Amino acid sequence: MVSGDSSITMQSSFLSMQQINKRYTGVQALFDVDFDIQAGEIHCLAGTNGSGKSTLIKIICGVERADAGATITIGDSVYTQLSRKDALQHGIQVIYQDLSLFPNLTVQENISIGDTMSGSKRFISWKQSRTIAIQAMEQIGIALPLDKKVAHLSMADQQLVAISRALTKDVRLLIMDEPTTALTKKEVDALLSVIKDLNKKGVATLFISHKLNELMTVANRITVLRDGKKIGCYQASDIDAKKLEYLMTGTTSSYTPYTLNKERAGTPVLCCTKLSKKDNFHDIDLTVYPGEIVGITGLLGSGRTELAHSLFGLNPPTSGTCTINGEPVALKSVQEAVSMGVACVPENRLSDGLVLDQSISKNIVMTILDNHLSSLGLLDDEGLHEKVLEYVEALQIKISSPSSAVKTLSGGNQQRVVLAKWIATNPTLFILDNPTVGIDVAAKSSIHSIIKALAEEGMAVLIISDEIAEVLYNCNRVLVMNRGRIIGEFDSSSTTENDIQAFIDFHAM
Ligand SMILES: Nc1ncnc2c1ncn2[C@@H]1O[C@H](COP(=O)(O)OP(=O)(O)OP(=O)(O)O)[C@@H](O)[C@H]1O
Ligand SMILES: [Mg+2]
Repeated sequence: MVSGDSSITMQSSFLSMQQINKRYTGVQALFDVDFDIQAGEIHCLAGTNGSGKSTLIKIICGVERADAGATITIGDSVYTQLSRKDALQHGIQVIYQDLSLFPNLTVQENISIGDTMSGSKRFISWKQSRTIAIQAMEQIGIALPLDKKVAHLSMADQQLVAISRALTKDVRLLIMDEPTTALTKKEVDALLSVIKDLNKKGVATLFISHKLNELMTVANRITVLRDGKKIGCYQASDIDAKKLEYLMTGTTSSYTPYTLNKERAGTPVLCCTKLSKKDNFHDIDLTVYPGEIVGITGLLGSGRTELAHSLFGLNPPTSGTCTINGEPVALKSVQEAVSMGVACVPENRLSDGLVLDQSISKNIVMTILDNHLSSLGLLDDEGLHEKVLEYVEALQIKISSPSSAVKTLSGGNQQRVVLAKWIATNPTLFILDNPTVGIDVAAKSSIHSIIKALAEEGMAVLIISDEIAEVLYNCNRVLVMNRGRIIGEFDSSSTTENDIQAFIDFHAM
């Protein structure tokens, strides 16, 4: 439970650490970092992909050990290394990006599982477990259906289950690694207000996000890391998103709009007529010509991801027709879609995109092995190696060696491997579902430039994104979906972010 003392002031330090170093094989993830969290504050960690954010929080919650020489002070206790048990005893709870929930168990079981399984109590009745779950949810003002399996909840509700589970303990510091990546704007706002409420109860929150505006609205202080070093710790009220970007990267980015440099003519790459899937999307008429980058935005549940999955053969439509490069397609299997030149970067990189135990190289080339077989059936290893290096360079993937396992990469660098893998197939239709979620602000613009260059060579691209700016500045036109239908189309050259936001808000009412 939250043993909150609302009189805690921001001046008292909950945790402070000095001389934090962490070396992994081949990489120094943190150099002499010092860091502190005040009791009850909302503290954000910002930095580009691979700058050491996740490593630092793993050390705070005792999952990774700092190298020799560290001093970690929590209250009156001083440690040179913190174990998971020490961290838990001090009320440090962490919610990982994958949430670590049990999808086949119910909301009640997931929230109360820590108590059910803890050695201190031999037996917890079903009734007690129900009470624990209800009380934990009450603390953040929610009441999810207790008997519903977690697998059937939205990402946002799963996030709330994970927070409720953390609150069944005596929480003093709640840590969240990129908690908002899979959430829509409305859900993000709801989560941020939960964090603010916890903050009022004296619970400190440490969270990581690549959405800089979001950080600015909720944080008390922001610590910036760059290449494993601490750049500084700032009062959020003293800086803005532009300054933060500069502190993180040393530069500021600017958007260059994408305009179509030729007429929409000839055979369209994609032509859907009245494409429908019961309960997902309806009467989708969508034509995309070579060289076009078309954006799709809208609210949660608007059917965008389901449409993308259908075009990639994962979610066969129930009626309507579709052609790719003029040829009718049944959209019944991924193999068919890939053979027609369709590639799709999934929204959920952690589960859909990668084989985490395999090497970076193998993940990048797994989709193109057939193109590198000799007539004798032997693999052209050298050619593949060159391809890997080419993509590592183009997408600025931060690696120590191409043979390292993908799981040793930071989150954003894993996402770049997913992009590389699909770009390597040289698709005619490239579908990207929230492609830059979890990617830092500097790398975002380099990924957008790569996508634009591919389109200029004739590829047709569909980008799905919650960030209106992302579709507006990188697409030549933007479609808005709502409740499974395309309800509006905007020409990027004559539209503002506010126009599209107002249109979405109007139709959401
Ligand atoms: N288990 C590991 N083995 C080897 N190297 C690792 C391991 N975990 C992290 N690293 C490396 O340490 C560095 C910092 O990674 P970290 O995950 O802390 O970055 P991050 O700031 O969280 O980035 P992102 O925004 O992409 O999630 C990276 O170079 C990463 O490849
Ligand atoms: Mg990370």
